Amino acid sequence: MNIRISLTLLALLALAACKTEPTQPEPEIGLIAQKAMVVSAREEASRIGSEIMKQGGNVFDAMIATDLALNVAYPFAGSLGGGGFMVYRTKDGDYGAIDYREMAPAAATHDMYLDKDGNVIPGLSTEGGLAVGVPGGLAGMFAIHEKLGSLPMKDILQPVIDLARNGYVVTEKQAGRFDALREKFIEVNNDSILYATAFAKAETVKNEALAQMLERIAANGKDEFYKGESGQKLVDYLTSKGGIMTMEDLANYEAKWREPVTFEYDNLKMISMSPPSSGGVCLAQIMQAIEPYDISQYGHNSVKSIQLLTEAERRAYADRSFYLGDPDFVEIPIDTLISDAYAKNRMESFSWNTATKSSDMTHGALPGFESMETTHFSAVDQYGNAVAVTVTLNGAYGSKLYVDELGIFLNNEMDDFSSKPGVPNMFGLIGAEANKIEPGKRMLSSMTPTLVEKDGEFWMTVGTPGGSTIITSVLQTVLNVHEFGMGMQEAVNAPRFHHQWLPDVVLFEPNSFDPEVIKALEAKGYPTNQDRSPIIGKVDGILVLPDGTLEGGADRRGDDTAVGF
Ligand code: GLY
Repeated sequence: MNIRISLTLLALLALAACKTEPTQPEPEIGLIAQKAMVVSAREEASRIGSEIMKQGGNVFDAMIATDLALNVAYPFAGSLGGGGFMVYRTKDGDYGAIDYREMAPAAATHDMYLDKDGNVIPGLSTEGGLAVGVPGGLAGMFAIHEKLGSLPMKDILQPVIDLARNGYVVTEKQAGRFDALREKFIEVNNDSILYATAFAKAETVKNEALAQMLERIAANGKDEFYKGESGQKLVDYLTSKGGIMTMEDLANYEAKWREPVTFEYDNLKMISMSPPSSGGVCLAQIMQAIEPYDISQYGHNSVKSIQLLTEAERRAYADRSFYLGDPDFVEIPIDTLISDAYAKNRMESFSWNTATKSSDMTHGALPGFESMETTHFSAVDQYGNAVAVTVTLNGAYGSKLYVDELGIFLNNEMDDFSSKPGVPNMFGLIGAEANKIEPGKRMLSSMTPTLVEKDGEFWMTVGTPGGSTIITSVLQTVLNVHEFGMGMQEAVNAPRFHHQWLPDVVLFEPNSFDPEVIKALEAKGYPTNQDRSPIIGKVDGILVLPDGTLEGGADRRGDDTAVGF
C-alpha cells in the first residue's frame, strides 16, 4: 500500500535536519531528539528516564527509573501496587517481552465474588481487600535489570527516591482527579493517609513513605517487597481490609519472560504483547483482516476506513475473551487466530453495504468497557535499544486502598477476571471459561505495548492506556503514520474511534468527526455514540524519522511529555 508523505512530515524533516538540541513541540510536531527519548504520562518521569540515558545508562535502566518515577508522580496507575508488560527490541534486533501482571492469591476461588445464590456481589472485585491481585511491578523491574540493565540498581533508584522525598508538582488535570476521589480514598482507608489531603494545582506532594521503601529496596533488593518488612506491611494492611493475600503469595510471585506476538503488515514487522494480554493477538487479527484493502486510498477517518476497521475489530473482539486467558492455564490457538487464512475466513461475511450485526457473530463471551486507568510509556536509547511499557492498577488508583506506610495504592486487577461467565463486571466485561479465577493465575489484559520494524529496522514504539480501547488506539496510531503519512505527534493527536463487537456500537471522540461521516455510517446500520467517552486512549510513542532522529508523540489528552537529547 502507498504511504502519503504529508506536508507536515516534510516540514518536520526539514526542522529535524537543522536541529542539534530538542525543540519545543509545535501543534502537530512532537519533540525531536537526536539520540534518545522517553515519552510518559508525567514530565518528571520522562526527565528522570532521559537523564539516566544521558549518564550512559541504556533504555532498560531508563525504563526502570521511569516506571518507578510514575509510581511517585502518577499514583493513578503506578506499577508497584499493580503490574504491567514490556516489549523490547535490542540494538542487535533481538526482541522479547516480560509479563509482570498481577496474579490471583492462592486462596482465590472461581466463585469468590458470588453470593449464596450464585449472583455477583457488586463492588467486591473492584474495591477493598478482595479486589487486589498480587502485585508484579517490582519483580518486573528486577527481572529486567538482571537480564538487560547496565547501571547499578542503586543509581537507577536514587533519582526516584529524590523525587519522592522532594515532591512532585500537582497538575490541573491531576488536581481534578484528586478532588473527585478524595472522599472515596478516605472512605476506603481513613482520613490520615497522604492522599486524604486536598492537594490543589501547583502544590508539591512529598511521599516520604515511598522514598523510605525505595531506600529499603535499594539496600535489600526485591525481597524487601516480596519477603521483607515492606511485604509484611502490605499484607497486614490488606488483611485488615478483608484481603486474602499472604506473605507466601508475595514470595511465590514471579515475573515471566514471554515470546511476543509478531506478524507482518506490508513492509512492517509488528512486535506486540502476548497473553495474558489480549493486545498483541487482537491487534494481529485486526491488521491481518485489513491488510488486503487499500486503506490509504479510502482516506483518514472516512466512512470506508472506519467501516473496515470496525468490522475487523468486531471479529477480533468476538474471539478475544472466548479464546484468551493466562497461557499457563489455558491452551490458546495463537498461530491460527493470527493467520492470514483465519483473517480471510472471518472477513468473508463483511459487506460495504451494511453493518454486520454483532448478535450474528459467533463466540458468546466478550469484553465490554474496561478501565481507562492504565498508563503507557515509550523509550529509545542512544544505542538503538527500544521499549514499549504499559502498566496498570486497573481502576483509577486501583482498589483505592492506599498503604500509607509504603506510599502506594493497590490494584483492583482481580476485576479483570470473569467473576461469573456471562455477567459483566464493573466495566461491562463479560467473561468466559478461559479467564475464570484460579489460584496463581494472571487475569486477561488488553494492554498492547508494541514495537514496529520497517524494512527490518526499528521504526516505532507505541502504546496507550484505555482498557479495551487500547488495542484500537494502538492500531489507529500505527495506521495514521503508515497509511496516512502522519508524523508521530500528528498521529497521536488525531481523533479516535472504537468498536469491540459488544456492545454493538462505534464510539467516537466527541466533536472530532465529520457529522456527514457519522450520518453515512448510521445509514449503513452502524449504531454510533459520541457521548460515552471524552477521550479514547492517551497514546505515547516515538518514531524514527528518515534521517535517524526521533520524533516523540506525547498525548495532550493527558499531561504526557516527551523528554530527550
Ligand atoms: N486493567 C486493564 C487491562 O489490563 O487491560
